[in-house]
Amino acid sequence: MDQELNPQGILELGLSFWASKAFLSSVELGIYTSLAAGPKSRAELATEFGLHPRSAVDFLDVLVALSLLDREGDVYSNTVLADTFLDRNKPSYVGGMLEMANARLFGFWNNLTEALKTGEPQNESKGGGPDPFAAMYADPENLRRFLKAMTGISTASGTAMAEAFPWKDYTSVIDIGCAEGAVPVALAKAHPHLTASGYDLPPVGPVFTEFVAEHGLSDRVTFQPGNFLEDAALPSADVLVMGHILHDWPFETKFELLQKAYEALPDGGALIVYEALIDDDRRTNVFGLLMSLNMLIETPGGFDFTGADCQGWMSIVGFSETRVQHLLGPDYMVIGIK
Ligand SMILES: C[S@@+](CC[C@H](N)C(=O)[O-])C[C@H]1O[C@@H](n2cnc3c(N)ncnc32)[C@H](O)[C@@H]1O
Repeated sequence: MDQELNPQGILELGLSFWASKAFLSSVELGIYTSLAAGPKSRAELATEFGLHPRSAVDFLDVLVALSLLDREGDVYSNTVLADTFLDRNKPSYVGGMLEMANARLFGFWNNLTEALKTGEPQNESKGGGPDPFAAMYADPENLRRFLKAMTGISTASGTAMAEAFPWKDYTSVIDIGCAEGAVPVALAKAHPHLTASGYDLPPVGPVFTEFVAEHGLSDRVTFQPGNFLEDAALPSADVLVMGHILHDWPFETKFELLQKAYEALPDGGALIVYEALIDDDRRTNVFGLLMSLNMLIETPGGFDFTGADCQGWMSIVGFSETRVQHLLGPDYMVIGIK
């Protein structure tokens, strides 16, 4: 046997859900939020979180081994990374996405094989109608958790977008399918001359309004209720943003949404589509490809796509100029100029 061939990597890959679930449980419990107040002993943490004596040592030490906690003797503290992004009381918290992954996706992904064979979603809408959001938003707790998750996944991209696009040339922006409003808030914070709106389904309104008020931007960031599948036209602004929207829908709907965006823009206006784009050769962006499988689990017809795919669709719809720009991590934006 080739000495270089070693099965360790594939075994670790197959069992990587162990680490994932231990981490997700630690976020669910709020370990990092508790330790943001200061270091605590193992006994204190075990009492606070009701950890059984069989689990406490191994569970907390797994988090040390995963570089999420530090340990001195039997006293634990957050690493800088965990303290910055996993303390629920900090605006930089990204755990909303992880809480949603823990509460919903972890279980749904257990049915991936069924989804692979049937092409059917495996979430709340399993066996139901064509709109995955109607099923998910039927439960107010799910609605809030999902919208928080979107804030977790999009806040950093919004901040990157605020820097990476020439906002000084534009005065208004509407985020189509805005969730809580993380992106309009990031754009309005960075560019005081911008008027920003979020457009989303009516039940999202109160959560959006609360989030914007928490950021002190209620005078410049407003909510526009609507339904992009049913409304004949999208609201108009110099720039329209669609983040993680197109990937929710089948090709025909993607195309229709791009057309509606084109029609709503003034000449010279811009559409920014941002997603975890799959690399054009469909080989390297594991996250983008897995996101597309997540759309298989979550939606009746959604799928992710490459930058070249999106540029091609934008050109067919009529955009005169398109370009792809990296935001951060797996997120890229595709910009179309009318
Ligand atoms: C995957 S989330 C993306 C949220 C946000 N753009 C982001 O990237 O963080 C999809 C968003 O589209 C909204 N949405 C779904 N169907 C819609 C519809 N028919 N009309 C308007 N918004 C809709 C959802 O409420 C949700 O906020």
